[in-house]
Amino acid sequence: MKITVINGQNHKGSTYNIGKMLLDNISCEKNVSEFFLPKDLNCFCAGCYTCIEDETKCPYYKEKNVILREIEQSDLLVFTTPNYCMAPSAPMKAFMDLSFTYWLSHKPRECMFNKRAVVISSTAGMGAKQAIKPVARALFYWGVPWIKSYGISVQAMNWNGVLQKKKAKIEKDMKSFAKTLSKSTTPSVSIKTKLMFIMMANMQKSNLGSSPTEKKYWEEHGWLGKERPWKRQ
Ligand SMILES: Cc1cc2nc3c(=O)[nH]c(=O)nc-3n(C[C@H](O)[C@H](O)[C@H](O)COP(=O)(O)O)c2cc1C
Repeated sequence: MKITVINGQNHKGSTYNIGKMLLDNISCEKNVSEFFLPKDLNCFCAGCYTCIEDETKCPYYKEKNVILREIEQSDLLVFTTPNYCMAPSAPMKAFMDLSFTYWLSHKPRECMFNKRAVVISSTAGMGAKQAIKPVARALFYWGVPWIKSYGISVQAMNWNGVLQKKKAKIEKDMKSFAKTLSKSTTPSVSIKTKLMFIMMANMQKSNLGSSPTEKKYWEEHGWLGKERPWKRQ
């Protein structure tokens, strides 16, 4: 199983260690690529919209493409982010902005419609859900059909400060989560994703997309007709 891990932090704290526990417990043969943000992508979307016409013209194309190529080739995506002020970390948000053309409203990638994804967050007290939600939402809009999450309050500022009892609970949770992930299955695409895709196709048909280039992309894939990305897998 090809797995890409995107850590929304450079350091190996509680969030990273929870993700690592999950990975370590996945029992099938794995090929893992791992990235740390901002170390591996230290850029923010410039808002120039050059990507709408030509994604390779994004000022940060070279840097982000290294990560996006790995993602496209993966069966499973794992995103980890600490809760920072009831939201994902800023580098994780920056990554989501830099990949916005992958959204169903722009140029969705066919390969996304058979992937599974996991979003992990840790928080000191409250807010893991709020950190997870924007990441899971972006994945939904990429067309990823199977998205699960794990958020936990660790009552600590770092992994060393997490009580042994809490670590044991996390280990137990990750073992059980990993069991599901170890079975390689093709997830089915939900009605919600299908309806959203059809809405976006209608938007492109009505010339309400961001550019004629986008409409052409949809036409070339046959998506303005009967073709659907999940049917070609
Ligand atoms: C900038 C910043 C903002 C944070 N905001 C919150 C918060 O809103 N609520 C909370 O309970 N913990 C908050 N925390 C604590 C972290 O979410 C928590 O310690 C987390 O487990 C850290 O994960 P890490 O060890 O992977 O860095 C914040 C920490 C930092 C550094």
